[in-house]
Amino acid sequence: MKVDVLLGLQWGDEGKGKVVDVLTPKYDVITRFQGGPNAGHTLEFNGKKYVLRSIPSGIFQGDKINIIGNGVVLDPALFKEEVEALESSGHNLKGRLLISKKAHLILPTHRLLDACSEFRKGSSKIGTTGKGIGPAYTDKISRNGLRVGDILSDFEIKYKAVVARHEEILRLYHFKYDLKSIEKEWFEGIEKLKTYTFIDSEHFINEKVNEGISVLAEGAQGTLLDIDFGSYPFVTSSNTICAGACTGLGVAPRRIGEVFGIFKAYCTRVGSGPFPTELFDENGEKMRNLGVEFGSVTGRPRRCGWIDLVALKYSIMINGVTQLIMMKSDVLDSFEYIKACVAYEIDGRKIDYFPHELNDEVNPVFTELPGWKTDMTKMQKENEFPEKFNAYLDFLEKELNVPIKIVSVGPDREQTILRENK
Ligand code: GDP
Ligand code: IMO
Ligand code: MG
Repeated sequence: MKVDVLLGLQWGDEGKGKVVDVLTPKYDVITRFQGGPNAGHTLEFNGKKYVLRSIPSGIFQGDKINIIGNGVVLDPALFKEEVEALESSGHNLKGRLLISKKAHLILPTHRLLDACSEFRKGSSKIGTTGKGIGPAYTDKISRNGLRVGDILSDFEIKYKAVVARHEEILRLYHFKYDLKSIEKEWFEGIEKLKTYTFIDSEHFINEKVNEGISVLAEGAQGTLLDIDFGSYPFVTSSNTICAGACTGLGVAPRRIGEVFGIFKAYCTRVGSGPFPTELFDENGEKMRNLGVEFGSVTGRPRRCGWIDLVALKYSIMINGVTQLIMMKSDVLDSFEYIKACVAYEIDGRKIDYFPHELNDEVNPVFTELPGWKTDMTKMQKENEFPEKFNAYLDFLEKELNVPIKIVSVGPDREQTILRENK
């Protein structure tokens, strides 16, 4: 058995949570491999909506095992909040949620350092989610971090040493903060975390794969936010790409099976940074309103624009995508025309690759297709698709050279159409 990976091909919020939930019945183990509570993965079923941040999106389907892998950074306070919200809606996670001892902890001071760093950057700020992601990964890479396994021995001593170092930095920049109040809920979170089983997840997952048990790895953020290949420095601090599943789970590259690449029929981005196909007109506004494009974690309005095939081809290459999944097609249902960026123009020169720096000089070159002007939200089968929508799918498949196997026509679990013959 191999580990299949599902990941975002754009700037995040593609709809990963929904599709992981839809695919979960085919798998026994669902696992997150990077990121942390900067993620907000939305699932809708039976008229209810849930937003997951650190817990894998397989948690709602039967007795599946869900794992928070070693590549994740975990905030105990937010973990407690998330678990309690699920418990209060009747979802008990005990015995079904396992946590890697090697996952790093986000400390309360990481959140303060995140805010301090953003403040100091001023107008060139990244627009982070403010969850302490960058500082937590910084400590991991500089070998100063605390891991979930550290909770098991001399934890207070280790915690105080790290916090003392963080406070030195905060004082250096005269950053005002009140640690006591956030520390209290953080330690309550530690107590909650301790009621869950900590495991050596790399052993666990490899053993399961050897036993023929199926594993789905759930990405967070998106390829264009990857620390190496995204629109640096306006990125997150982890490898969001397929290779991140190898390091974030301890799974060898040859054990990776299908790579599901998920994208919106258009494109969005939240936070600062370049976005060549961004729209500032009524079409962008229409996408935001119809697609309810507001951050699931921060509530920030998402920037909207046409689909960018140059960027998508790059993401497909980096991840070795084997199947595509197109989300939010319904949002374009009423558009007269659809545009797709097929190349960039820089200084009057046309290029068809993703450049080293995606700055304001990069202008999109568009191809225009007719809109399908049909409500697709109640459709169940591929043969109901309007002709012009099929033409859009054909165009995308030809450009991207990978089959689109699933089309999503609404936020609900049921509004998902499998393309059987693809
Ligand atoms: P994720 O971070 O990739 O899991 O995506 P988010 O949950 O942050 O954002 C996706 C948003 O789109 C959520 O509000 C979903 O409920 C919603 N959504 C997912 N698929 C569809 C779809 O096909 N159509 C519409 N209209 N909404 C969708
Ligand atoms: P999901 O998993 C969309 C963006 C932030 C900011 C940048 C860095 O729901 O798709 P960070 O807090 O990670 O240091 O912020 O990355 N960002 C996301 N954008 N979806 C996400 O996650 C994101 N997680 C981080 O807005 O621009
Ligand atoms: Mg999201």
